[in-house]
Amino acid sequence: MEEVRTQVAIIGAGPAGMLLSHLLAADGVETVVVESRSEEYVAGRIRAGILEQSTVDLLRASGLGERLELEGDRHRGIYLQWPGQRHHLDFVDLTGRSVWVYGQTEVQKDLVAARTAAGQQVHYEIESTALHDLETDSPSVTFIDAAGAERRIVADAIAGCDGSFGPSRVAVPEDVRSTWEKVYPYSWLGVLADVAPSTDELIYAWHPDGFALHSMRSESVSRLYLQVPNDTPVSEWPDDRIWEALATRLGHGQDGWTMTPGPITEKSVLPMHSFVQSPMRHGRLFLAGDAAHIVPPTGAKGLNLAVADVGLLAPALAELLLKGDARLADAYSDTALRRVWRCTHFSWWMTTMLHQSGDPFERELQLSQLRWVTSSEAGATGLAENYAGLPIGF
Ligand code: FAD
Ligand code: DHB
Repeated sequence: MEEVRTQVAIIGAGPAGMLLSHLLAADGVETVVVESRSEEYVAGRIRAGILEQSTVDLLRASGLGERLELEGDRHRGIYLQWPGQRHHLDFVDLTGRSVWVYGQTEVQKDLVAARTAAGQQVHYEIESTALHDLETDSPSVTFIDAAGAERRIVADAIAGCDGSFGPSRVAVPEDVRSTWEKVYPYSWLGVLADVAPSTDELIYAWHPDGFALHSMRSESVSRLYLQVPNDTPVSEWPDDRIWEALATRLGHGQDGWTMTPGPITEKSVLPMHSFVQSPMRHGRLFLAGDAAHIVPPTGAKGLNLAVADVGLLAPALAELLLKGDARLADAYSDTALRRVWRCTHFSWWMTTMLHQSGDPFERELQLSQLRWVTSSEAGATGLAENYAGLPIGF
């Protein structure tokens, strides 16, 4: 078996893994990244679209802000609506913070470009990833590389950035880890369409037929979501049915607003759940991003949480490995989980406020909550502060 030594072995080349590699390199810490998919597959996955203030601040500060500056679209806030009502929440007025429309695909491209330029070692298309000796100072990762060769990376620490299905979270012994999970009784049908957005900022719509969200990726590409029952086959939703449902739920014709349909280029159904695993560190294994927690997408926190974890983990590992100072590493799990639980609550709250559950009591509570959030400055500020994002060390 071919063996190499590095300071940090990073499992997963998604946004958490690649950003961690980038931040650690800036601190002078060497990493090797391993990834089970191909570079093209990881780059092409259509996922998150909204970056919060602290994500943008971190990307800019680490030299990744150039294309974001040119192509990202800064939004002051969002629209919240229900039949007959549309309200704008201005996050800048309420909190001084804003959000950016810049797709995960673009963040990933910027990260890959920066790491490639720096000569980063990334092993793509690997198999049989396994973690070893986590409770020692020389943990290792073994895998079979794309050419079929068995390899071992011996490191000072391992970063588990391998998403919700990777081996890292379950490498924490069962008697050490606690998990919390909630599965929601609905899913999202997400579509990407080659049509200019019908709105300047995102619209989150409560509707008796189910939630709808109008988002976007650029001046000519719209991203739209509809609440659908769990396990809905995409085949039940031909394009005409999608546009009809979006027009109804988003309020086509309401106060002169119109929704323009266009060619749909991607369609998929996303189940929704919340999941948290604690602690986010075991011995020399540190979990970050979806490997440690999942949120339902309402409120756009998934990618931002992954970035925030890594923003805490990079300095913690640098202090540990370069100076032998374990204070930040020892605090990492508690510090990260504090923010994780805040975002877990916010995502659950946005999700349950906006989706139809079929319960008439909940429906009245949702409408009451929506009226409060859109008419009281205190209510609006709470939503804005969470949506635009709390500082990374919150
Ligand atoms: P990931 O991006 O999942 O990266 C983990 C990487 O680890 C993957 O590339 C994976 O291939 C790799 N890996 C897995 N197993 C192994 C192994 N055994 N060995 C080596 N590598 C491995 N968030 C939002 O905010 N808004 C959205 O609209 C949104 N939509 C989403 C849609 C979908 C379908 C999904 C799945 C997620 C969505 N999210 C969304 C969440 C957001 O995309 C994630 O929170 C974000 O990608 C987390 O980044 P990560 O790097 O932690 O994990
Ligand atoms: C997007 C996804 C979200 O979950 C959200 O709350 C806002 C926007 C998006 O994909 O654009």
